[in-house]
Amino acid sequence: QKGGFSTFMDKEIHDQPTAVADTLRGRIDEHGKLKLDEGLIADSVLNSIDKIVVIACGTAAYAGLVARYAIEHWTRIPVEVELAHEFRYRDPVVNVRTLVVALSQSGETMDTIMALRHAQQQGAPVIAIVNAQGSTIARESDAVLYTRAGPEIAVASTKAFLAQITAAYLLGIYLAELRGNKFPDEIRTLLAQLDEMPGKIQRVLDSAEPVRELARSLVDEGSVLFLGRHVGYPVALEGALKLKEIAYIHAEGFAAGELKHGPIALIDEGQPVFIILPSPRGRESLHSKVISNVQEVRARGARTFVIAEEGDTEAAEHAEQVFYVPASPVLMSPLLTVVPLQIFAHELASAKGLDVDQPRNLAKSVTVE
Ligand code: BG6
Repeated sequence: QKGGFSTFMDKEIHDQPTAVADTLRGRIDEHGKLKLDEGLIADSVLNSIDKIVVIACGTAAYAGLVARYAIEHWTRIPVEVELAHEFRYRDPVVNVRTLVVALSQSGETMDTIMALRHAQQQGAPVIAIVNAQGSTIARESDAVLYTRAGPEIAVASTKAFLAQITAAYLLGIYLAELRGNKFPDEIRTLLAQLDEMPGKIQRVLDSAEPVRELARSLVDEGSVLFLGRHVGYPVALEGALKLKEIAYIHAEGFAAGELKHGPIALIDEGQPVFIILPSPRGRESLHSKVISNVQEVRARGARTFVIAEEGDTEAAEHAEQVFYVPASPVLMSPLLTVVPLQIFAHELASAKGLDVDQPRNLAKSVTVE
C-alpha cells in the first residue's frame, strides 16, 4: 500500500507530480472552457460576481492563500481567503454576487460545511474544490471541481495541497477567459506553464537528499522559523504547519516584510530560519528585499536555509545552505518551493522516531465544529 515508502506521507509526497498532472488532465476543452465535474454555475452568474471568497481550514486554507495571488492577477476579481470557522461567525458580507469556493481535501470538515451553508443562505453560488468524491461539501455545493490527488492517508496533507492549488488555478484561468481578462494565447501560455509543473516537481523530489541530511542534523531543535514573501508567504506558513503537525517542533511562518515589525526579535544565535527566496527574474525589488532579510537574520546569528531558483547566483552568498528548485513563472513556484519543506518535516519527524502518518492529537478529517 505504501508502495515501498516508509510512510504514507512519504509516498504521497512522491505522488505529487501525478496528483498535479491528473488534476490538470482533460480539464479545459478546445474552446478554453473549464469542464466542471458536477453541477453548474451559469456563465451569466460567473460574469456578474464581484468578489471571490475562499473558505477552508488548515493546509487547504494555505492553498487558498496561494491561489489568491494568481486568481486576482489573472481575473482582477478581489479574492478573500478566510478560515471557515472565522468566516461563519462574523456576519460576512456575502451575496449573490459573491462566488464562494469551498476548498477541502476530505469534503467533510464541519467548519467548512457550516461556512458553506451560511454562504448559501445569503444566496451566494458555491463551487467546491474537493478531493473526496461524493463528500458532503461536494454534494451541497452548486458545482464541483475535483482535485484528483487520489486517497490521501497521512494526516498531514501534501499531495492534496498541490492539487488544490492546481484546481484553484484552473478556476482562475477559466474565469479570466470567460470574463475576457486574458487573450486566448495568454490562456494557452498559462495552461502550458501548468503542464510543465509535474516534471519540475519530480526534479525537486529527485534532488532532495541534502534537505533530508539537514533535517537529520536538526532533530534536537526546539524552534524553526520560515519566511516568505508574495506567494512564498503562504508556502512559509505551510512549511511551519507541517513541522508543527508531525515533528512537534515549535514553528512559525512569517511574511518576510513583517520581520522588522516584530519577529526579528526572536532571532538568536543558532536559530534555524528557512527563507523562500523570490525569483530574481520576477520583480527584482522583491528578490533583493528578501535577500536583505536573509542578511538581517544572519547578522543576528540565525542559521539560514534558503529555497532558491536554479541559476540564482546571489542566494549562496548569503545563506548557510541553498536548496535549488527549477526555474518557473513566479505564480507557479509554490508548487515547487513547498516540496523541500514537506520533505524536511517528514525526515525530521522520522528521525525523531515519531508516527508520521498518525500524529498525536490530530485527525485526518475533523467532523465536529
Ligand atoms: C485538519 C487536517 O484537521 O483539517 C489537515 O489535519 C487539513 O491536514 C485540515 O488540512 C482541512 O481538512 P480538509 O479535509 O477540509 O482539507
